[in-house]
Amino acid sequence: MKKILVTGGCGYIGAHTIVDLIENGFDVISADNNSRSNENILDAVEKITGKAVKNYKVDLCIYDDTVAIFQENPGIAGIIHFAAYKAVGESVEKPLLYFENNLNSLINILKCADEFLVPNFVFSSSCTVYGNPDAIPVTEETPMKPAESAYGATKQMGEKIVGDAMNASKNKAILLRYFNPVGAHPSALMGELPIGKPQNLVPAITQTAIGKLPGMKVWGNDYDTRDGSCVRDYIHVCDIAHAHTLALNYLMQNKKQTNCDVFNLGTGDGLTVLEIINEFEKVSGEKLNYEIGPRRPGDVVAIYANNDKAKNQLGWQLKYNLQDMMATAWNWELKLKEDEKFFKSPNAGLN
Ligand code: WQD
Repeated sequence: MKKILVTGGCGYIGAHTIVDLIENGFDVISADNNSRSNENILDAVEKITGKAVKNYKVDLCIYDDTVAIFQENPGIAGIIHFAAYKAVGESVEKPLLYFENNLNSLINILKCADEFLVPNFVFSSSCTVYGNPDAIPVTEETPMKPAESAYGATKQMGEKIVGDAMNASKNKAILLRYFNPVGAHPSALMGELPIGKPQNLVPAITQTAIGKLPGMKVWGNDYDTRDGSCVRDYIHVCDIAHAHTLALNYLMQNKKQTNCDVFNLGTGDGLTVLEIINEFEKVSGEKLNYEIGPRRPGDVVAIYANNDKAKNQLGWQLKYNLQDMMATAWNWELKLKEDEKFFKSPNAGLN
């Protein structure tokens, strides 16, 4: 079986992608220093797939430690590079942390790909590279506006770094621009595990609904949108995950001569924050405790994808709708509470 290195493999999208890769016949190893992830998510991967996945607990900003992974695993057929910090708000407050972490780790992994002749590279990019677009939906040809956050800037620079590295080598890459990944694996065995207070909308909603958070804020309802709150393209994490498997196969079958191609991964539907809250309340039956707060620095007003290219060239077909996104996110939050109750109860493990 072809061996794939997934960096950030203990992360939300990384772990869901590992499940999809294994289910499609790949052998997978992970590299994740767990600074913002939990290695036990790989236990869930094993429960779902029956396969144990080794994680190299390595800071990819340290070149020698990164090289050691490749020395121990000759013949890696492809790399999917997720490892990066990704909170838009935090990146506005701590830009240097984001530039140092996201770019140094990328450069090291690309140097190893070159040195160890790994021919296929998939880069975790983001719709934030578009900044505040003049026209929506955005296609892959939509010009990039100045990034609204350091996080978005690291993705813009990351795409340039990957493209130039591919031009200077015989390797090939695909850049996948995620819109807003949400939801959880349908088994409810794994999902998003924000460290600390959730920055992203859907975990903030589910943690508020389950009572982990006393309430949540809608960051601004005075934008020029249909209800004043920001518009995003929310997409199920399992649909995002499967696109990575398709991208690797696309590279391995040498379907395209360009050595660095880019694809939007969104549903093509733009929904507001308040519409998402409304959909969650309908699906969960819970009334959400939220209030309108100030705008969040770094937020893009409205963006959603034109996803024709991924559908036509990668053969990508969406499996999950908005109700699935809300239901799987809520089921996961309920499961987390159950597990916590189980582990806290005095007779845990007796039954
Ligand atoms: C969405 C909307 C917030 C929390 C994300 C990822 C980023 C990238 C792009 C992949 C915004 C509002 C949020 C809250 C709120 N993904 N919100 N109250 O900023 O679009 O970025 O997608 O690469 O990594 O972070 O997502 O979920 O943070 O915000 O009102 O408590 O929800 O203001 O309008 P964002 P998000």
